[in-house]
Amino acid sequence: MAPATPSRRGEIWQTLASLKSACSKQPLKQRFAEHADRSTQFSTELGALFIDYSKQHIDSDIAKALHALALDAGLPEKLNAMRSGALCNNTEQRSANYAALRTWAHSQHSSDPAIHTMYENMAAISAGLRSGELCGCTGKPYSHIVNIGIGGSDFGPRLFTEALKESAEAAFECRFLANIDPSCANEALADLPAESTLFIVASKSFGTQETLANAAAAKRWLEQALPGQDIGRHFIAITANPDAAAKLGVAPDLTLAVPSWVGGRFSVWSGFGLIVAANYGWPCFSEVLLGGAEVDEHMASSSLESNLPATLALLDVWYRNSWNISSHAILPYCNRLKQLPDYLQQLFMESAGKTVDRSGHALPQQSGGVIWGSEGTNGQHSFHQLLHQGSDIIPCDFIAALKNSGKALDQQQALLANCFAQSLALMQGKSAKEVEQELLRDGFSPDEAAQLAKHKAMPGNRPSTTILMDELSPRALGNLIALYEYRLICASFIWDINPFDQWGVELGKQLSHQLLGSLRGNTDSDTTPDSSTAQLIERARRANS
Ligand code: F6P
Repeated sequence: MAPATPSRRGEIWQTLASLKSACSKQPLKQRFAEHADRSTQFSTELGALFIDYSKQHIDSDIAKALHALALDAGLPEKLNAMRSGALCNNTEQRSANYAALRTWAHSQHSSDPAIHTMYENMAAISAGLRSGELCGCTGKPYSHIVNIGIGGSDFGPRLFTEALKESAEAAFECRFLANIDPSCANEALADLPAESTLFIVASKSFGTQETLANAAAAKRWLEQALPGQDIGRHFIAITANPDAAAKLGVAPDLTLAVPSWVGGRFSVWSGFGLIVAANYGWPCFSEVLLGGAEVDEHMASSSLESNLPATLALLDVWYRNSWNISSHAILPYCNRLKQLPDYLQQLFMESAGKTVDRSGHALPQQSGGVIWGSEGTNGQHSFHQLLHQGSDIIPCDFIAALKNSGKALDQQQALLANCFAQSLALMQGKSAKEVEQELLRDGFSPDEAAQLAKHKAMPGNRPSTTILMDELSPRALGNLIALYEYRLICASFIWDINPFDQWGVELGKQLSHQLLGSLRGNTDSDTTPDSSTAQLIERARRANS
C-alpha cells in the first residue's frame, strides 16, 4: 500500500493567515479599482443562477490556498464516496446520497427500489388529491391541506410552498402546523372546512412530541366536526417509520414511506415534499428536482477550482477559522424566499454545530457558526445598521429574482436597487474624511463636521455574495437549495465533521419528557436537579392549577 501523503494542513493555514493579514492592506474597494476584470473573474453561472462572489476577500492566491486546503482534507474523495452511497453518516451507519433522489426526475427511474416506490406513490397520491379521487370521508374533494411537522418536516415544504406561488396555480389552501404551542393548532384549525380538509402528518421518526400532539389535536377537532364519520381518511403520513404511523391508525395506502437514510433537513426533495407536489402538480415538483440534479452534475463534473459550492464553502471555512467570524447573514430580496433564512438556519446549524470530528476527536478549530437573516428591504430598517457599522464583520448572501411576474416594475426596480446598494455600501464604505467633506459642503462648521463624521463614517470592506436568478422558477429554486446543501456538506467535509447527524438535540428532548411529568405533578418523575429549574416548574404548576 502506498504511504498516505502527509497532511500539509498546518502549512496551508499559515499561508492563509498571512493572506488574511494582507487583506487588511488591500481593501475590496482597492481590489476593484486595480483589477477591471475582478467581477468576471469571481462570478459564475450555475443552472439558472448567476453568482457574483467578487465582493468576497478572494484573489487567485487565496483561492489557490483554499483549494489546497480542500485537497488536503480529501474533499474530492469524500464527495465521491458520498455519491457512491458510502455510509457518510457514520454515527447512524447511513448513506447520504441526495443526488440519488434528484436523479430520479431525469428518467422516473432509480436503481434503488425504495426511491422508485416512494416517488411513484408520491406522484399517485398527489394526482389523486388533485383529481379528487382521494377525497374526504363524505366524498368532498379536498380544498385545504394542513402539513403537520416540525424542523426538516416543516421548513422545506413551507419554503417551497411559498416560493412557488407564482410558478404554478395552487390547487389547495395550504397551512403549516409545527409548534406545540396550543395557540398554533387553534390558529391553523380556525375556519377550516372539516369535510374537505386533509392533514399530512410529516415525521421521519413518527415519534416527535410536537407533531404527534398536533396530529392528536387535529384528530380531536375532526371527530368533533364530523361525528361518527371515517375521519381516518383525512390523514396521510409521510415517514421512515410506517409501523408507528400504522399504530396511530393511518391507513397503509395513505402512508408514504421515505428511506431511513434521508435526513430531515435534506428531505424536501423526497416524499416530504408531498404538499408541494399536490398543490402545484407533479411537473412543477419535478422541475425543482431537475434544478437540484443540475447542481449534482456540476459537482460530479467540475474540477475543484471551478466547483462553485466548494469555493463558497471554502470561503465560509476561511472566515470561520482565519478571521474568527462566527455569523453569516442570509438576505433574500425576494419576498417569496422569506422562509429561506429559517430553512438554511436548520440546514447549517443542525449539521455543522459540532465540536468533534467524524472519529470523535476534538476539533482543532471551530466549525459552523450562526446563520440568520430575513428578507430585504425589511431588514434594512432593522439589523442592517449592525452589518454596516457594528464591531463584527458578518458576511452576507444577497439573493434576488430579477423579474417579478411583470408586476409593478417600478417597485421591483426599487427592490433590486436596494439589494445592490446594500452590498455596495458594505464593500466600499465611506471614510471619515469623505463624510467630513460632504458635511462641510452642506454648511456644517469644521468642528461639527469633524465630530459628526466619526459617527457617520462606514468601515466598508465587508464581504458579500450576490446570487441572482431571472425569476424564481422551480428550476432556480432547485439550483439554489442544492447549491446551499453542497456548500454545507463541503464545509463539513473540510472540517471532517459528520453533517448528517444531530445528537445535540436529544438531551433537551429527553429532559422535556421528564420535566413534563414534574409539571403534571407526577412526583415519580420529579428529577429536577437544580433550584432554578425547580422554581420555574413550581411557578408553571401554580399558574395552571
Ligand atoms: O429535533 C430535531 C429533529 O430531529 C430534526 O432533525 C428533524 O428535522 C425534526 O426533529 C423533526 O423530526 P421528525 O421528522 O422525525 O418528526
